[in-house]
Amino acid sequence: MNLVFLGPPGAGKGTAAEQVAKEFKIPHISTGDLFRAAIKNRTELGNQVKEITEKGDLVPDSLTIEIVKERLKIADATGGYILDGFPRTIPQAEALSGFSNVTRVLNFVLDDAEVVERLSGRRVCRSCGRGYHVRFMPPKKEGVCDVCGGELYTRKDDSVESIHNRLEVYCEQTEPLISFYRSRDLLTDIDAKPSAAEVFEAVRKLLEDR
Ligand code: AP5
Repeated sequence: MNLVFLGPPGAGKGTAAEQVAKEFKIPHISTGDLFRAAIKNRTELGNQVKEITEKGDLVPDSLTIEIVKERLKIADATGGYILDGFPRTIPQAEALSGFSNVTRVLNFVLDDAEVVERLSGRRVCRSCGRGYHVRFMPPKKEGVCDVCGGELYTRKDDSVESIHNRLEVYCEQTEPLISFYRSRDLLTDIDAKPSAAEVFEAVRKLLEDR
């Protein structure tokens, strides 16, 4: 099961991917998470991508493609994977088809108003990376991760300015991937508006039926 999760920022790709990865025992590979880890660890890659990601622009294709190509060589990905946030441009999708065989693309569909509400209320654990939402998925104790007790923070790219930029970037550079994968008969739309539990159930059923 080689899956790609596509959709606008904040559509719930990461939330669903975490649950699908656990259910089907395949790794959840998020390019956004890989970049954030590099920034946190102040690596050379982190320094290169810090400003770009905080503004909500895209990291250059050559860099992103190389990172994913290397990540897919790791043994845990040989039995399947979920790519969350990659590909995000046509050149990335073309490159991916040269080094891996994608079996299904799930397109998480959500309108802009809902995207803004989800992203502006998102909180993330600084220690374990678990995601929350102040209204839709609040932690038991405000500002504290239920799982590890870590501090919850707001991502820099979840500022109003960056959210609007990310939506524009999505529209211009990522949306064309919908026709790219639909024309190859690989794409299934997922209504991302219901609760996270309902979205996961829809995805689980779809993947089990295949
Ligand atoms: P990335 O981390 O991939 O950001 P994104 O695509 O904008 O996606 P998000 O993580 O913001 O949203 P999501 O869909 O995973 O939603 P989530 O589940 O968290 O990338 C960050 C940056 O890295 C990019 O801007 C770019 O700079 C760079 N980058 C990454 N990949 C790249 C690439 N391929 N090429 C170039 N550059 C790249 O949910 C959002 C919120 O909603 C949470 O609070 C959650 O709790 C809540 N929520 C989730 N589901 C539901 C639900 N069903 N109902 C109610 N609330 C929900």
